[in-house]
Amino acid sequence: MYHNKKDSRRSELIQRPPEESYSGRWVTQEIPKDKIPDESLDPRATYLFIHDELNLDCNPSLNLASFVTTWMEDEAEKIIIESLNKNYIDEDEYPQTRIIHDRVIRMMGNMCHSDDSAGTATIGSSEAIMLALLVHKWNWRKRREAEGKDFSRPNIVFGADVHSCWEKFALYFDVEMRVIPMTEDKYTINGKDIIDYVDENTIAVGAVLGTTFTGQIDDFTSINKYLLKLKKEQNLDIPIHVDAASGGFVAPFAFPDLKWDFRLEQVKSINISNHKFGLVYVGMGTVLFKNKEVIPEELIFHINYLGGSMPNYSLNFSKPSSLVIAQYYNFLRLGKTGYHNIINNILKVARYVEAKLLETGKFKILTDCNYLPVTAVCLLNDNKYNVFQISKLLHEYGWVVPAYTLPPKAEHIAVLRIVCRERFTLDMAENFIEDVNKVLLELEQNSSIESATPSTTTNIC
Ligand SMILES: Cc1ncc(COP(=O)(O)O)c(C=O)c1O
Repeated sequence: MYHNKKDSRRSELIQRPPEESYSGRWVTQEIPKDKIPDESLDPRATYLFIHDELNLDCNPSLNLASFVTTWMEDEAEKIIIESLNKNYIDEDEYPQTRIIHDRVIRMMGNMCHSDDSAGTATIGSSEAIMLALLVHKWNWRKRREAEGKDFSRPNIVFGADVHSCWEKFALYFDVEMRVIPMTEDKYTINGKDIIDYVDENTIAVGAVLGTTFTGQIDDFTSINKYLLKLKKEQNLDIPIHVDAASGGFVAPFAFPDLKWDFRLEQVKSINISNHKFGLVYVGMGTVLFKNKEVIPEELIFHINYLGGSMPNYSLNFSKPSSLVIAQYYNFLRLGKTGYHNIINNILKVARYVEAKLLETGKFKILTDCNYLPVTAVCLLNDNKYNVFQISKLLHEYGWVVPAYTLPPKAEHIAVLRIVCRERFTLDMAENFIEDVNKVLLELEQNSSIESATPSTTTNIC
């Protein structure tokens, strides 16, 4: 081991010139894994050790499981590297970064049809959802307190189609979750579905623009309509929070007439993952509020220990600036035309994949709307093999395609999901379909091929 002091070769080895400092050329001992080594290591050898070990990860471009951006232009990467050493929270020291952040937030608010919105960049949609729902919990409590009513039993209503971070919110922040189950052939919710679930203790209703499971969308218009009726008839003012983690940058450019955002009266907050179709690398989401009056003043922290007075509403303190800057780069670089072209192109590729999977005669398409560049399929009944086997064999060709079962009441349905991203071109899609056909043939001939267990393939964010 390196940290064995008796190993006299150690200090001798680290003196060697970099060109010798690699693997068997340099050392044959084990790399430390449990304790920080006593001695330093040559930088080149250190880089190569780690670099090579990371080759064991899959190739991000072939990862069709993830919504998260895996490619940006060189100029974008340059600006990211230039701002890697700036802590976003140091607003007094990096005031221009804050100014750019605010521009990004205003542009996103405008994209969601409010020129009066307020918001903040987060690490991802999960943090954004927590922040939005905390605001709604707080507002509900204040209202109940002012009316002299009980405020000990808040609940939140959403469909079983939500991402796990919604359940996390309910658990961590002590709010009863009222989950509308999926059914055999319905994986989203509408205005009728929420009737039996909402009441005076409901802090918000969650609706999803692009569900994690099938890429479909909840029926925003009918949910909004029912909540407006409740407001008028029972004076219950229940806000909608829209989880637009995946669809927030798709709908505005591909389906501009679809009303899911601040155009709907009860939509008071929205989260969007910039690191999905905002096309920046992982580490940025955004929470937006219809206007700043939605955020209770008590939740804004004014901190002065970095110089100046900074209003702050976030769960994290320190965070990187670079992705906020990268998002601004994309807005300037692509403009609406650029986003429109990229998003529509990805959607076309997704439809191609869907059509080709149908052509095999083996699959049934679960998504019925194509609002996201996501194809979710299940196998037709008469197959001898399952989606977990397909997922495993595709992995051998380098493709990562998750296989998973749907949430309760629809858990007997096992799904393969393919997310198309910018660099998954039509050319790559053709290669992918060729490999799918090879895998199906292999399984036809030998259906006893072992499958990956569902539990190892259900991490589908
Ligand atoms: C609908 C939905 N909401 C929330 C999340 C969580 O987003 P993030 O990974 O940005 O925290 C995801 C992740 O894929 C998602 O699909």
